[in-house]
Amino acid sequence: MRTHNCNELRKEHIGQTATLIGWVNTKRDHHGVIFIDIRDREGITQAVFRSEEDAEAAKMSHGLRQEDIVRVTGIVSERPEIEGQSTTNPNIDTGEIELVANSLEIVNHSEVLPFQLDKELSNEDLRLKHRYLDLRRPRMARNLQIRHRVAKSCRDYLDEMGYLEIETPILSKSTPEGARDFLVPSRLNPGKFYALPQAPQQYKQLLQVAGVEKYFQIARCFRDEDLRADRQPEFTQVDIEASFVNADDIIKIIEGLLSRCFKEATGIEIEVPFPRLTYQDAMNMYGSDKPDKRFGMELTDLKDVFKSSEFKVFSGALNDGGVVKAINAKNFACVTTGQMNHLTETAQLHGAKGLAFIKVEDGEWKSPIVKFFSEEEKAALTETMKIEEGDLILFGAGDWGTVCEVLGRVRLECSQYLELTKDSDDLEFLWVTEFPLLAQDKETGKWNAVHHPFTRPKDEDKELLNDEANYGKIRAEAYDVILNGNEIGGGSIRIHEGDLQTTVFSALGIEEDEAKEEFGHLLDAFSFGAPPHGGVALGFDRLVMLIAGEESIREVIAFPKNNRGIDLMSSSPAEVDFKQLRELYVKSTRKEENKPE
Ligand code: AMO
Ligand code: AMP
Repeated sequence: MRTHNCNELRKEHIGQTATLIGWVNTKRDHHGVIFIDIRDREGITQAVFRSEEDAEAAKMSHGLRQEDIVRVTGIVSERPEIEGQSTTNPNIDTGEIELVANSLEIVNHSEVLPFQLDKELSNEDLRLKHRYLDLRRPRMARNLQIRHRVAKSCRDYLDEMGYLEIETPILSKSTPEGARDFLVPSRLNPGKFYALPQAPQQYKQLLQVAGVEKYFQIARCFRDEDLRADRQPEFTQVDIEASFVNADDIIKIIEGLLSRCFKEATGIEIEVPFPRLTYQDAMNMYGSDKPDKRFGMELTDLKDVFKSSEFKVFSGALNDGGVVKAINAKNFACVTTGQMNHLTETAQLHGAKGLAFIKVEDGEWKSPIVKFFSEEEKAALTETMKIEEGDLILFGAGDWGTVCEVLGRVRLECSQYLELTKDSDDLEFLWVTEFPLLAQDKETGKWNAVHHPFTRPKDEDKELLNDEANYGKIRAEAYDVILNGNEIGGGSIRIHEGDLQTTVFSALGIEEDEAKEEFGHLLDAFSFGAPPHGGVALGFDRLVMLIAGEESIREVIAFPKNNRGIDLMSSSPAEVDFKQLRELYVKSTRKEENKPE
């Protein structure tokens, strides 16, 4: 239907006849001469309609509306000079030429669009309702192309490294990754349900028992959890598993993979290997297991400053075996009351009793707590925290975990107020290693897997599994890869021995009968010469989001759900017929609001 796409004609084509087809991006009328920007996936070319070239075409072009589809034939011409001024457009690749039209075919008409394509629209629901239009916008079209490019890079790289792409079932059995399952009733097996995979975790491990050695999959995962900008109920992982490997081998593969993706999608060479931090150090320094290292403001320990302080909030915390830590938000003494209240609320939301502070303004320490500090304490604090005019010091006192988490959150909030990462194009990658294997639920006292139940404890910590008192100290052979404060992937070396797996299940409160019922296939498989193995999964949407410079994964997914899990375009989820439910032996227990029971 066309001789060229809309980003193809250049000066060297001048004099040739060309036919383009595409959408009317804009129409301008200059004293009866009509200019149409024709747009296709590749770009934009200007067509000019003058009555002296073709009266009929010129007349028809008057009636065109935005987003009509036109097919235009004409002569590729140099853009003229008008009154000594060049009319070339340096903003588009075809800006030196125009197509002087001698024929116009209106291929299809468009109604007036519900929103303009050349403006950013804040109403995301409206965009999602007409996603097929939203995707016409160049930014979204570019995002889809980047996504394709990154997927292709992953496939090429892993193929070259000897990995096989293998599909695993979508209709499968529940596998614990910490979220709720989406369930699918089975018509052929009344009363039974499949679960959609939260990750292909068990299948990929079973493929190692099967001797595949190197597996990957660009896998769709389903998790019924509350949604945020970086979470969707269905999302994509680059899922990897290999046999006869240790953590360093997996880390190396991912560093190679990420270098390749960034290189091929953006041309950027990233530096490998990435720095590594243990979980303990990450929490101590940044108050987060996914530190954003694009700015400092690190947590500083103040035990030595306040161990015998008059200020009981601090000395009390230390005497109870807790910690006192602080961050120095440089140049933030100008914090407003509203901002300070917000920071305090954040601290309280994450378990702090308060958020003590010092503002250093006009050479003075403005703070409700300095009156409790001795001169030595003030001097030691100044030196340890490197306090200067204009600083805002924020303190946390209490148990280690709470104080780290609270100051970690406060640190991020301060960085936002101070716009420390705005317009930054830094790429700070890092690995966080040695995660704890187990964490105790504060309310129920139950131990849960921090990663998942198949993660291997470090060999030197295995013995600690013998005594519940030591569970919290067991380190896992697990690693997360972080980019600018986003967890873009995580994985671990796995348990490959039935007895160790049974021990870990039992620590998690999964006793023998339940383990057999839920994970019998895995335990059976481990009894037939299972190889040592491990792997990782990258959050593909998050990775593409960061490569594309977007703030939400919804911008890099063709048809995402909104923050209530709804696809506004097709209106799913939707109600179904009673008959359909009956065939599935399913009955809804939902009661309509405001109706008596
Ligand atoms: P994990 O649960 O850490 O590990 O998931 C791996 C990565 O997937 C991404 N991710 C998500 N992305 C978008 N929306 C979501 N709801 C969502 N949830 C997770 C994150 C995360 O780092 N089976 C293990 C991997 C392994 O051990 O090999 C797993 O799924 O970027
Ligand atoms: P109080 O003596 O409880 O009035 O607290 C004095 C100051 O210390 C107030 O600014 C509180 O917000 C703050 N504060 C109280 N408890 C903590 C804590 N655990 N960590 C940090 N600051 C605290």
